[in-house]
Amino acid sequence: MRKLAAGNWKMNGTAAALAEVSALAQAHPAPRCDVLLCPPATLIARMADLAKGTAIKVGGQDCHAKSSGAHTGDISAEMLVDSGASHVILGHSERRTDHGETDAQVLAKAEAALKAGLTAIICIGETEAERDAGRTLDVVGTQLHGSVPAHATAANLVIAYEPVWAIGTGRTPTLSEIAEVHAFLRTRLTARIGSAAADVPLLYGGSVKPSNATEIFAVPHVDGALVGGASLKAADFGAIVAALSAA
Ligand code: PGA
Repeated sequence: MRKLAAGNWKMNGTAAALAEVSALAQAHPAPRCDVLLCPPATLIARMADLAKGTAIKVGGQDCHAKSSGAHTGDISAEMLVDSGASHVILGHSERRTDHGETDAQVLAKAEAALKAGLTAIICIGETEAERDAGRTLDVVGTQLHGSVPAHATAANLVIAYEPVWAIGTGRTPTLSEIAEVHAFLRTRLTARIGSAAADVPLLYGGSVKPSNATEIFAVPHVDGALVGGASLKAADFGAIVAALSAA
């Protein structure tokens, strides 16, 4: 399986930030993993132009379930493709919290993404209260079942396990906690989409940085990372790409 280092810029970056993309492409011309950056929608087309001929792919951070229509402020999967995106992050915990997105809505968006030819990166993860209550596997299992299209394949699906309490906090689960969830997800994904699940990249996300990437990438069933803060600077994200290339 091709591993994936994915960067989520969230609501960060104007044109000046595109210099980081050139720096990253120059420093890592031929990584031994896929490299993806998901900037704000306003930068997708410009970043995709800049990334042409490099190892960097470009993705969106959300899409609407419909392909067009009266949905002010929203963007469709077809529009992402038209802008040069190959991937889209769906169901990120910040979307689930800020916009009340449910598993059913994430599923509808994922169906739209697949239909448009995008690879869907579906995010799942427990809150701190859910972990403390011993409900982690229950929660991620339910999210996985509810938000992953049953017809998804290894070619158009990526799962990102992101404990909500680890995002942007500098805190991470122990390696054995990550291992437990990832092994569980592989099994549950097989139940959902069949044998294709063996080749679906399972990313870990939440406070991944150059200093912890190598140990996280050594965990069984961790096939890459979804990186927020540390994806904004080419030097940091490049170090994570190098760690995954070496894993
Ligand atoms: P973080 O964010 O790396 O800044 O913790 C990860 C994410 O939200 O995808």
